[in-house]
Amino acid sequence: MKRIFSGVQPTGNLHLGNYLGAIRNWVRLQDEFGDCLFCVVDLHAITVWQDPDALRANTRETAAAMIAAGVDADKNIIFNQSQVSAHAELAWIFNCVARLGWLERMTQFKEKAGKDKERASVGLYAYPNLMAADILAYKGTHVPVGEDQKQHLELARDIATKFNHDYGVDLFPIVEPLIFGAATRVMSLKDGGAKMSKSDPSDNSRINMTDDADAIARKIKKARTDPDALPSEPAGLAGRSEAANLVGIYAALNDSDAQAVLAEYGGQGFGAFKPALADLAVERLSPIQGEMKRLMDDAAQLDAVLRIGAEKARDLAAPVIAEVQDVVGFLRP
Ligand code: AMP
Ligand code: TRP
Repeated sequence: MKRIFSGVQPTGNLHLGNYLGAIRNWVRLQDEFGDCLFCVVDLHAITVWQDPDALRANTRETAAAMIAAGVDADKNIIFNQSQVSAHAELAWIFNCVARLGWLERMTQFKEKAGKDKERASVGLYAYPNLMAADILAYKGTHVPVGEDQKQHLELARDIATKFNHDYGVDLFPIVEPLIFGAATRVMSLKDGGAKMSKSDPSDNSRINMTDDADAIARKIKKARTDPDALPSEPAGLAGRSEAANLVGIYAALNDSDAQAVLAEYGGQGFGAFKPALADLAVERLSPIQGEMKRLMDDAAQLDAVLRIGAEKARDLAAPVIAEVQDVVGFLRP
């Protein structure tokens, strides 16, 4: 059976990269796959410090963004991770399956821990094990994410393989990443070598899902570029990371590809291209933003969606956890 699981951290500053790299793809997959699980991963969020009130607000905002972007909350399961204890339970077991050497190689840990990794939380280090547990608690098979999550999904495959091998079972599926679209890795507007990120201290580096039309236009206008005109073929974007990024964003928002964008804008400078990109971004994002605001105004309704989602998720995870407990040798009621 095919089953989709994916997640977003409620760490604030939800941005265009989250939308184009992940959430929008979920909307496209939901019709093809039955009962998809889309999770606001609050347990992952606290691997770095989160103010409790901000965490609550960001959890609701992330759920609102998913729904506003078109994820159907009736057909799918939208919930926050901490409401379903199966995630933490299975993560502990995976802490005992994954090897230190595997985690040592994770580039996201190195980036997030920075120079002083002695001071990083243990949770930040074990983060990929929890991510594997998120998916495998439901025997998830397909995981739509942005490019940056590829390495974590390889680890989830290694964990599933080792668990199955060590216990001589065929319990966990080997997950498939689904990374597609014209913007699987949206870069910072200030630096074509860094990905657009929630934690970048410069707000001008990203387009937030809550930015109004003026902010979007201003940020795109200020975006770093080079002095040359756009090429007429994608090959001409080689070595021009900032230009390639803006073209990729345009293509993704317009549901086309770099070739088509350059067929239209090749030979033109950024003075013409940037306003066109800003108009397109505003056109695509403003309906989502309006709906997000409407949803955010009714916290009780959002909480109800998350509660119902969590109930459904618990029902799906319970038999998997029982199976795992039997296989591992845990006595259970
Ligand atoms: P996060 O913000 O780390 O919780 O990411 C949530 C989802 O958005 C994941 O599937 C990421 O791969 C995706 N994502 C995050 N940043 C980007 C980006 N700059 N470009 C494309 N996808 C991204
Ligand atoms: N680590 C992912 C990110 O930061 C979020 C995440 C947590 C996730 N658990 C997941 C994504 C399970 C896909 C599947 O982007």
